[in-house]
Amino acid sequence: MFRSEIYTKRREELHKKLKTGLAVFVGNNESPMNYAANAYHFRQDSDFLYFFGIDLPGFAGLIDFDSGKDFIFGNDFDVDDIIWMGPQPRVKELALKCGVTETAPFAKLESIIKDCLAKRRRLHFLPPCRGENKIIIGSFLGKNPFELRELASPELIKAVISLRSIKEKVEIEEIEKAVDIAYEMHTTAMKMCRQGVREQEIFGTIEGIALAKGGGVSFPTILSINGQTLHNHSHDNILKKGRMLVVDAGAETNLHYASDITRTIPVGGKFSTQQKEIYEIVLKANTEALLSARPGISHRDVHFLACNIIASGLKDLGLMKGDVDEAVAAGAHALFMPHGLGHMLGLDVHDMEGLGENFVGYNDEVKRSQQFGLAFLRFALPYKPGHVFTIEPGCYFIPELIETWKAEGKFTEFINYNKLDSYLPIGGIRIEDDALITEKGHKILGKAIPKTVKEIELACV
Ligand code: GLY
Ligand code: MN
Repeated sequence: MFRSEIYTKRREELHKKLKTGLAVFVGNNESPMNYAANAYHFRQDSDFLYFFGIDLPGFAGLIDFDSGKDFIFGNDFDVDDIIWMGPQPRVKELALKCGVTETAPFAKLESIIKDCLAKRRRLHFLPPCRGENKIIIGSFLGKNPFELRELASPELIKAVISLRSIKEKVEIEEIEKAVDIAYEMHTTAMKMCRQGVREQEIFGTIEGIALAKGGGVSFPTILSINGQTLHNHSHDNILKKGRMLVVDAGAETNLHYASDITRTIPVGGKFSTQQKEIYEIVLKANTEALLSARPGISHRDVHFLACNIIASGLKDLGLMKGDVDEAVAAGAHALFMPHGLGHMLGLDVHDMEGLGENFVGYNDEVKRSQQFGLAFLRFALPYKPGHVFTIEPGCYFIPELIETWKAEGKFTEFINYNKLDSYLPIGGIRIEDDALITEKGHKILGKAIPKTVKEIELACV
């Protein structure tokens, strides 16, 4: 945990933003793998962690905006539990670690919530993401657990997002540590990326590094020579010369701050001329996008800048044609980059996505586009100092998408479909870094991970 003042200050800021009612934050419980006593690796709810920091199952926090008091609900363990679990801290001790003095058994929360509703006080809660929490909150409220997203408090969602979006110094230090773990993961993958190696071996080795150096991975590692599948979670291929391995992998620190880095590595450690052609385009989109990231400019502007670079590079190679600005405005480049440029990063790898992506990345003035490609941009607003983002342009040759568009005669004025076949073995290329927006510009976080053609070729040796 951070020191208690960090959590006290965060809750004080929330008290300033919401003046009346109660806010309840239900922490996560153990989630069974196949029977209750055999649970998945425990991961605390990120909002509970942010305001209360207690990294254990079975707790809830309550903030009373009317009285100004904060509470922790949880149960002390008895000797029957301690036989299996070892000595455990008491709820009072844990609460003090996050600056809370008022505690009660978990069961008391239900009666407090029922009393709040009976007195017609406003009860704020965030949309729960875990099934168990949906059931707990649904039962307290007497509501259908599947309808809680609609019943969650927009005021609380917006207040929490406004706080969590601006990272504190201690949080930035954590994210840097997470990137440093990712450095070890990615440079290890580079050394292992040789003909005949099974993807699973590299996958297991680098996920092991995340566990050995921090709290494990921040999301299931994407690692495949079929990088054209954006989130490829199968790892059963044998690496072959002539292919490239996309490794999109990050770690959590022990305090659960995330990194999210992608590198694309030629099998055998040497890029072919054709691989280099496409790689350099994506690299330029990555570096120019990073260079332009500063307060005031929006993530959507930077997304368009990266898309323009991709389209212009593909036009130089003869894969696209026509006016680049018109092609990007029409969305023709999305054949090659069908995703958004990046997302916020923090306690969640897609930070706060569980609260609703449109609350995080859009507002009343800036609405999400429906256009294919742009519709997947997770954040469109202007950057502010303290924001932490990923910048992750890519270029993919997705046979099924190419076939579909070609058959539909889509964007024939911008795409040279007859030139694409020879590029299919490229699969996909994505290059992703994590950056902090500073007062004047940005800072790429963590230890620099090999990224240029030369750096990657050297790191593969
Ligand atoms: N790292 C996977 C993603 O950003 O979606
Ligand atoms: Mn990402």
